[in-house]
Amino acid sequence: MKKLLTLCVTLILVSSVATVVIATTNGPPEIKFTPKMGTVTLDHTAHQALTDCATCHHTGEYAQCKSCHGVDPNAPAAKVAFHNLCKDCHKEMNKGPSKCKECHVK
Ligand code: HEC
Ligand code: HEC
Ligand code: HEC
Ligand code: HEC
Repeated sequence: MKKLLTLCVTLILVSSVATVVIATTNGPPEIKFTPKMGTVTLDHTAHQALTDCATCHHTGEYAQCKSCHGVDPNAPAAKVAFHNLCKDCHKEMNKGPSKCKECHVK
């Protein structure tokens, strides 16, 4: 089920990118992660106004994070990478959620 969902989301993303390449270079306005722990919603547009693209897209490309995290042995596991990136910034800026259930909503 999770795989199917991921596949659907991927297909939607791929097809929307393929149809309007220029208009979608900023990617989707909202990104949802759906781990068992509970859905995490990233307001992509709002975060783009807070920091540089490269803070998150650290490779300089806009590839899916999990194309490396969880695959490339040199890349930390996706859970570790996301938690470090997201939570650390929220703590640093003293803004944004850092408690589990503020991010993971069932
Ligand atoms: C707070 C972190 C963050 C910032 C800042 C950010 N993004 Fe993203 N972006 C993400 C995440 C997370 C994804 C989802 C990647 C995935 O599905 O693995 C994503 C997805 C994308 C995608 C779609 C990639 C795909 O193939 O699905 C594009 C394009 C993109 N971002 C462009 C940008 C641009 C351009 C900027 C700067 C103007 C930016 N992003 C800023 C976190 C961020
Ligand atoms: C092309 C492969 C690749 C892609 C795509 C990629 N990463 Fe990474 N990432 C790595 C590798 C390899 C490392 C470890 C070496 C380094 O720090 O550069 C890393 C390190 C990190 C770290 C530091 C982890 C720590 O130790 O604290 C974070 C955070 C991170 N990635 C988040 C992301 C996010 C979020 C995305 C998607 C928006 C993403 N990465 C996309 C390969 C990738
Ligand atoms: C550059 C720092 C930074 C990074 C990196 C970052 N955030 Fe945030 N985030 C913020 C700030 C600042 C706020 C508070 C914005 C506000 O209150 O206006 C926030 C707010 C949020 C909120 C609450 C939004 C709301 O409507 O209340 C969520 C959820 C969130 N971030 C998820 C994430 C996730 C998931 C990631 C990692 C993929 C992430 N953030 C990465 C700085 C960051
Ligand atoms: C700032 C937002 C944020 C906070 C706070 C947060 N998480 Fe996460 N968590 C994420 C994101 C984003 C992912 C990546 C989801 C994915 O891989 O699809 C994730 C992934 C996970 C996963 C892996 C799920 C899987 O199926 O691979 C677990 C388990 C988890 N978190 C537990 C926790 C716990 C426990 C806490 C509190 C101590 C917590 N998280 C706090 C954003 C957050």
